[in-house]
Formats: sequence, structure tokens, C-alpha cells
Amino acid sequence: MVLLAVGVLLAVLSPAGALDNGLLRTPPMGWMAWERFRCDIDCKDDPTNCISETLFRDMADRLAEDGWRDLGYEYVMIDDCWSSMTRDKDGRLQADPSRFPGGIPKLARYVHDRGLKLGIYADMGTRTCMGYPGTTIDKIKIDAQTFANWSVDYLKFDGCNSGPIEQMLGYPLMSMALNATGRPIAYSCSWPAYVGGLPPNVNYSLLGNICHVWRNYDDIQDSWDSVQGIVDWFFTNQDYLQPAAGPGRWNDPDMLIIGNFGLSLDQARSQMALWAILAAPLIMSNDLRTLSNDARAILQNKVAISINQDPLGVQGRRLLQTKSRIEVYWRPLSESASALVFHSRRQDMPYIFRTSLALLGYEAGNYEAYDVFTGRTLTGLSAAAELSVSINPSGVVMWYVYPAKQQRHAHPQETGRYPYTRRKYRMSPLHLHKDQVASAATVL
Ligand code: GLA
Repeated sequence: MVLLAVGVLLAVLSPAGALDNGLLRTPPMGWMAWERFRCDIDCKDDPTNCISETLFRDMADRLAEDGWRDLGYEYVMIDDCWSSMTRDKDGRLQADPSRFPGGIPKLARYVHDRGLKLGIYADMGTRTCMGYPGTTIDKIKIDAQTFANWSVDYLKFDGCNSGPIEQMLGYPLMSMALNATGRPIAYSCSWPAYVGGLPPNVNYSLLGNICHVWRNYDDIQDSWDSVQGIVDWFFTNQDYLQPAAGPGRWNDPDMLIIGNFGLSLDQARSQMALWAILAAPLIMSNDLRTLSNDARAILQNKVAISINQDPLGVQGRRLLQTKSRIEVYWRPLSESASALVFHSRRQDMPYIFRTSLALLGYEAGNYEAYDVFTGRTLTGLSAAAELSVSINPSGVVMWYVYPAKQQRHAHPQETGRYPYTRRKYRMSPLHLHKDQVASAATVL
């Protein structure tokens, strides 16, 4: 058994076995059913919220019609509880016939017709976490082929009801089986979450070769406590996790719960900001049919999205935690830009935090910063000068920082002050209202 496992691993580590199909060069974006809709299969009493083709069609409509798709939110993802309790006579998984009368292929067509992609869920083990048929080692090939035949674009491969040896075999085998179908299918592995999420139990170089994205840690729940617990775990372990990420291989701190019941407005901004720093998948699990305008504005914030989706694909880090419970996070971005997040863990009142870009490790010179959630542009920020920001309790101030035009170390292009984010979304100070363009004086 162990020899077989070693053989599989070697095969997978060789270039021919690598899942390098050019997918997910930036973190995936979309919508997933689980956190908000769980395993609600009561279509009789709860027809609009139960796990059924109606729910996924509704969400596809919203993604396509309400601007989400055009911002990059392209995956509609089915989670657990979609299948029938039994496989068909040929041993294939099949959708529950009463909740998905058209079957998955028809749903895939519906989703594709709207310019979106379809994700599905399976489980490496005897049963899914909710007790539906699992994918044991002998079923891996047939399930991969079934998903490809159905024109599925993304597989979340969970790990309930299996042990470490089966997982060590099964996750690489599924990667090869997906590759062998010839259909480009993004592959999300829950493997690390089942073995503690850290080396030596988790080999992140191996994972980067076989999966595009992986869940490292516990499930998110609809509460700020849960978000905080996840944030703490990811940044406490950043020395292991941060180097594992890059284009085509992402850590996944789990779904965005913005728009549900558990987060205040400030906490929702904090989740968005920290998920952008983490280069995390932006996979919402909420009800897009009834989303508040506040939640929509956060989730559709173009600069937060473009920071998350930056093509350099370098995950960010926590730079410091102060005694006054202020934390600073930083992520390097393409074209000499960077993102800074000032986060307050306090529970009293807005806190004035003083620092300077130089203290945060920036090279000498002049910078500008775009405040992601207020839309203000701060000019004339010299690295050496003291700056101060006012951070709400459990909230953030998030900056997109770039070298000022005149700076000697600016990006070689003359357009140094209009790096990726600005070009992509055609942002320029000229487009901002005059009173949104604050001078540096207001932050000093
Ligand atoms: C596990 C996963 C969750 C979700 C459920 C479904 O707990 O981590 O994201 O898929 O199973 O049962």
C-alpha cells in the first residue's frame, strides 16, 4: 500500500502528471451554495431555498444580470446534497431526480448560456459529509469522466469518511483522472483541511502540482468569530501558507459570508479586505436575490477585487500586531503597487493609528494611496512622513498604494501612476469628485 502511494506521488510530481491546464491563474470567483443554503432538501416547504436546480438557476440569473459576472464572479457551484442516494445501474453518480429533474447537463447548459461556469461537489471517501454517495478509489475515474461528460468546469473534492492513506492516493488520482478527460476542470482539494493544514502532514509543493486550490482549515460559519478564527489561523501560519500560493495554486480560507446575518458592515469590509490580501477565492455564499445594497457595494468593489485578482499572484502577509490591537497586512502587487490593510481588533471606538510607510518597510520616496472603501485618493505621501488612519472597531482601512509619478524608483513605464488596477477599471483621480481627492494633509 505504502509503495503504491509512493508510486502515485512520483507519477504526479513528474511534469506529465501535473495538473497544469492553465486554469485559475488568479483565484476563482463565484458563488457556492454551502454556507448559506447547507443541506436544505425540503423543496416542499422551502422551494426557493432548497438545494435544487431552481436555486442554481436563480443564482446564475443574478450573477449574469446584476453585474457579478462582468466583475469576474463566474462560477456557480453546487455543494453537498445534490445527488441521489444511490448510483445508477452503471455505477455513475446521478442528481436527485426530484430536485434536479433536468439533471446536471441541463443545468450546465443553462449556466454556460449565461457566460458562467458550473462547479460540482464530490467527496473522497465512502460518503460525503452529509451522507450522500462518496467517491472511493475505484470510482475516481468514472466520476471524473461523468463530470466531464456533464460539462462541469470545477470540482470541489471533499474528504469526509476517508483516512490519510486513501486521501494520499485519492487526491492525486483524481487530479490525473480529471486531466485524462481532456476537459479543463478546475480542481479544489479539501485534503489539507483533513490532515491539520500544515507541514509535515501537508506537502504544499505536491498540492501545488495536483490541485488549483485547496481548503486548509475549518469551515466558515455565519459569524465574526468564525471569520476571526480563520484569519488568525491563516496569518499565524503564514510562513508555511504564503509561499504555497501563486498563479494556479491558491490557499482557500473558505467562502465569503458577506450579505448574510453574522457580520456588521465594518466586519464585512474586513472579510473582503483580508480575503484580498490572502489572494483567496472570492466565492460568495449568500442569497444574491435579496442582497442589501451595502453588501453588494462591498462585494462589487472593483479595487478590492482587482487587488485580490492581481496577476502577480503573490499572497500577502501580516506585517504587525500592536499592543493596542491594531494589525497591519500587506500584499505586493504588479507594477510596483501594493495593498495595505489596517485592521482594528478593538471593541471600543474608532482608533487613530500612527505609523509611516517607511516603518512598514516601504522604500524611501513618494507614494499615492487610493482608499478602497471611501474612494479617496491620498497624494504626496512620503515614505518617511508620519501618517495616521482612523480604524473602526473590527473594521479596516484598506489602501491601494503606488509610487507617485515623479518618484525616481517608479515603475519604468511612464504610466507608473496608472498601474494595473487603474488601467483595468479606468480609474483616475480626474474621474473622482473634487472633494473625494483628499490631500495628504488630511492623513498626516
Ligand atoms: C465539509 C466542507 C464544507 C461543505 C460540507 C458539505 O464540511 O468543508 O465546505 O462542503 O462538507 O457537507
